[in-house]
This record gives sequence, C-alpha cells and structure tokens, in this order.
Amino acid sequence: TNDRDRASFMDTLPFEYPCFGLGDYRESAFKIMDANGMSTCDLRYVSHKMYEGKPKLEGLPATFATEESGCSTLEITMYDKYADIEVVLIYTAFDKLDVITRSAVITNKSEKPFKITRALSACVDFDTDKMDMITLNGSWARERAVERCRLHHGKQLVDSCRGESSHQNNPFVALCDNNADEDKGEVFGFNFVYSGNFYAQAEVTQHKKTRFLMGINPLDFEWLLEKGESFACPEVVMVHSDEGIGKMSRTFHDLYRNNLIRGEYKDKRRPILINNWEATYFNFDTDKLIDIAKEASKLGIEMLVMDDGWFGHRDSDNSSLGDWFVYEKKLKGGLKYLVDEVNKLGMKFGIWFEPEMISPDSELYKAHPDWAIQIKGRPLTLCREQYVLDYSRKEVRDHVYGMMKKILDSANIEYIKWDMNRQLSEVGNEVFPPERQREIWHRYVLGVYEMQERLLTDFPDLLLENCAGGGSRFDAGMLYYSPQIWTSDDTDAIERCRIQYGTSMVYPASSISAHVSASPNHQTGRLTPFETRGNVAMAGAFGYELDLTKLTDEERALVRKQVAQYHAYYDIIQNGDLYRLVSPFENDVCCAWEYVSADRSEALLTFVVTKCRVGFTTFIRLRGLDPEKRYQDVETGRIYSGDTLMNVGVNLSRYWKDSESLICYFREVTE
Ligand code: GLA
Repeated sequence: TNDRDRASFMDTLPFEYPCFGLGDYRESAFKIMDANGMSTCDLRYVSHKMYEGKPKLEGLPATFATEESGCSTLEITMYDKYADIEVVLIYTAFDKLDVITRSAVITNKSEKPFKITRALSACVDFDTDKMDMITLNGSWARERAVERCRLHHGKQLVDSCRGESSHQNNPFVALCDNNADEDKGEVFGFNFVYSGNFYAQAEVTQHKKTRFLMGINPLDFEWLLEKGESFACPEVVMVHSDEGIGKMSRTFHDLYRNNLIRGEYKDKRRPILINNWEATYFNFDTDKLIDIAKEASKLGIEMLVMDDGWFGHRDSDNSSLGDWFVYEKKLKGGLKYLVDEVNKLGMKFGIWFEPEMISPDSELYKAHPDWAIQIKGRPLTLCREQYVLDYSRKEVRDHVYGMMKKILDSANIEYIKWDMNRQLSEVGNEVFPPERQREIWHRYVLGVYEMQERLLTDFPDLLLENCAGGGSRFDAGMLYYSPQIWTSDDTDAIERCRIQYGTSMVYPASSISAHVSASPNHQTGRLTPFETRGNVAMAGAFGYELDLTKLTDEERALVRKQVAQYHAYYDIIQNGDLYRLVSPFENDVCCAWEYVSADRSEALLTFVVTKCRVGFTTFIRLRGLDPEKRYQDVETGRIYSGDTLMNVGVNLSRYWKDSESLICYFREVTE
C-alpha cells in the first residue's frame, strides 16, 4: 500500500455532503466548531425514507408541490456519533420537470452547544472537468450580464457578502458541455432560493473532476446550535437539460411560475402601471399625481404607483426613512383622498416603501438610534444617506410593520413596491451575545422573509413587487413573496435588452418588471423610438415610468397601441416558452427573442437593433414551432410553414436605424 494516499483517497470519491477535516481536501459543505474547539465532523449514513410531496422549510422561501405537479421526496439521515450531530439531506424530484431541489436540516442531538461555521445546501461531484461555467454578473444598473468561461484547475467562485443577493453576482450557475448552446448539449443549472449572502463554487481537482457547491456564504457566518435545536439550509434548485441552455431556462420558468410564485397574482393578469419615479422624482404633490393618473386612465393604464417621497419630510434621499407617515405638505388632503381620487378614475393605487432602512434624519432614528445595524464604538458607514435597520430583531420588525399596516389600513392600497437601497456594513448589534453576532446576516434575511409573509397574510390580495436599488435582490427567494421584481434602475431599452436577456436565464418574463421611460433616457442619455421602449418593456411585467402629461398626441396613440398589444400578447409572453434567438452579448448589431404558446399555435418574435451597422442583413430563424404547421405573420398576412420559419427564417434585412425594433406575431392557419 502507498501510505501517502491513506487520507487523500477521500479526494477521489464523490460525496453528497462532504464534511471538513477528514481528508477530503476539496471545499466541504459542512464544518463546525464543537464545544472543544474542534472543526472535524464525520457524517455517516443512518437511514432514509421516501414519500410523496414536499416538506416546508420553516421560515424560508421554497418551491412547493401543487395538485397538477406532483413530486416525491427522499430524506437521508446522516449522523456524527462523536459530536452527536444529525443532518437530514432533503431531495425533492418533480414529476414533470427535470428538477431536483435540495436542502439540509442540521440538529444538535448532544447536551452541549456547537457552532455551525459552514452549512451549504447542495454539493454535486461531477466526474469530468470538461465543462463551461455560466454566471450572471454586473453592477448597479447593469445587472445579470451573461458570462461564460471554461472550467480550469482550482476554484471558480461567485458569491455575495453584501447582505443581499446583489447586483454584482446572481445566485445562479450553470455548468454545461463545452459545446452546449441554446438548443443542444447537456446543462446543469443551479439557483439558490435565498436573498442574502450566498456562495456558489466550482472546483476542478487534481483528478480532473469538478465539485460544485452552493449555499449560504460561509464568510462571516456562524450559527450557535443549542441542545435539541435545528438549523435549516435554504433550498437549491437543480435543473437538468439535455437540449441546451434554452431548455434549462424554460424549466426554471415553468417551475417558478407554477411552484414558487404564489398568491392572488400567480395567475391573475397584472395591472399595467404608471410609476411616478422617473416622471417626477421627489418633486410631486397630490395634484401632480392626479394629473398623471387622469392621463393614464384615458390611455388604458390600470394602476398608479406613488414612488419614493410621500412620507416624513422627504424631499430628497437624505431623510425620513423609517417615518412611515404621510408628508402632508405633498399629499394635501391626505392619502385616502388621493387613493379615492385615483380609484374614481377606475385605477388601482400602489405605494413605495423602503422598510429595511433608517435615515439619520428621521424621528425613528431619534427615538431608536440603536436600531440601525452597527458595532458599538465604531462609526457607521452612510450609504445613500441611510443606515440599515436591524431586521434580526423582532421589536424592530414589529414597529416598522405597525407603521406600514396603519398606512395600508388607511386607504385602498393594492400594490407595494418594497425597496432596499443599500448593502450591509458594520454588521453587529448590542443585543445578541458575542457568540451569536455572526448570525445577524442570516437572521436579517429571515426577518425580511417574516415581514413579507406577515404582509401577505394580512393583505392576501396585495400585489407585492420587490426591488433593491433596481435589481440587487432579483432572486428566487424574493419571488416566493413577490411575483414580480424591479429588474434594474437602468430603463434604457437597449441596455434593458442585455439586462432582461441575462435575467431570462433563470427568471420568467412575468417576474421581470419593465417600464417604458422617457427619451433621452435618464441613465444613458440615449434616444430610442417610443415603439422600441414598448417592445422591450413588453417582455416583462409591463408598465410606464415617465410624465404622461407631457406626451405628444402621437405618443399617446402609441401608448394606446401598446396597451392593446399587452392585452393581446399577455398569455404568450407571461406563460409561453421563451427562445433566445440572438444574444446581445454575442452580437453587437441586434438581438432577438421569441415566445411560443404551449400548443405551438402562436409565436411572438421581438427583434431589436442594438447598434446599427448600415447595410447589415439578417434572417432570424425561429424555434419551437411545429415544422408541419403553417403560420401567418398577422401584420403582413404572409404565410410560412413552421419548417421554413425555423430553417430559413424571417427575412429582416432592411434599412434599419439605430434602436429600431419590431414585434412579429405568428398564428397558425388551418384552412
Ligand atoms: C431605487 C429604485 C427606484 C426608485 C428609487 C427611489 O433606486 O430602484 O426605482 O424607487 O429607489 O428612491
């Protein structure tokens, strides 16, 4: 025997939940600090059981079974007899989709407390290193750009340690064949159903194998588990596709539409909204909002959303977060008067909150300066003139919830935009003992979930839209509470092509909140035709965000046309199958995508010239149609076979100008 291999032979074996300290030198999924200061743990199989259905993860968002989509669960119980720790690995397989979800529940069976210092949710050991890694990276106003790299020796990590899933990296990774594309090749997609610090890592080992891990970021994470207590690791959704990246996305979309998004608006048509943020910023009052609503109602828009600036004495972003009572100077006559007036126009009313935040200039801060997350004796870092409220503490949540409920009870409010505009720093408080300080990151996220659950329980008809400085918390955790999420603070249609394209890797169109805004665009200064702004926003939860009172007659007519299109195409966009046809990350002239109805009788193609090159010609080949069927382009009346549309394509060679675009609707003809 070769003694040198006695320990490291563990490196050659695949593990489902590898522990630290036993000689598997790859990254581990589980690590502890026991009462004696030791970090080794040896979890061994004890038993397993299988049953129909899917268990709930207490206090955490997760996918669920429905009557139509059955699933079965496998629970494997593991045990370390030295430290008396039990870990139950939970796997659920969905009957009709290539999906397995994973999580783990850790229980302290001993008399003594111990600390969990790493508790990831999923580990998959692949027998190959010949894979590419696809991730969604970006920054504020430039979220979820698709990036693809070949795996190489060592560790390739995407993560967040910002307290939110982040603009910078999304909790998503796909590992795929080197030659996989939208339509072919094997793809494994991983998405974390969590909105805080995450960790997703692929590690290529000495033996040319790949370990993939996903879960709560171990960085600065600790959790003290007393005798008898349990800790639940959030869920990882694992999708398999043998028909390329496109099929992986469609599987995520189906799963999230049916088995993650809940409530009234799961199936109900979302109202077309007008949000006043880019129309007025902080400079509005009751009269201005009613003027906008009047114009909106004439154009067929269904809801007015009053954004930031209606509370405390907020005239800019430097005050009043935490003071959730009406700013009388702006809302003359009060909130109920405004809401009633909007309702009289036949429109719904929605409102903006940023419930996790506190301004130093606020009554709340005067009364409770210690409610901001902070380390006593150290200065707090200001960001956007605000601090973060300590949502790990129930009294803080209760107080904020009380204020919100009072507002919601005071008028007919049917929608909330829940915003979160800064990341966490100096994480600590004066309440928890030292050995529990490192729990605040996760307890904070649990607090956010608890608040949103409370809202939905008390106001079950509410449409909740999450937002975090644009798209900093666009994750599956948030989708469990809000069927739509504000995708990005960049509303420029051309930039949005990239942002929405990347977002569509995982998240369905119905969740991608998208608005028509002004031109020149406020973020980029770019001029885009009104049609293109509509065509791009139509690929999501649709709305407007500009001063409607300043539109020309021609623009007003276009709004009416877009509203009609939104109604006509609602089902195919919101519930259809998405095919990404031309990637704005790979093609610097144009991009294109398509939705196909489940019965393949309809298809909707969107084509956008992202950067004009004079004389460029293109045929766009459709996907997902029935080659035998005949389809009519409803606009031109031309009829094509599905075969022709998919193999020859639609001829879109014309004299395109910058930022022009087109929507083509194809319907099956039977006669
Ligand atoms: C964030 C949101 C915007 C807007 C502002 C208001 O940036 O993403 O849509 O609500 O806050 O301050």
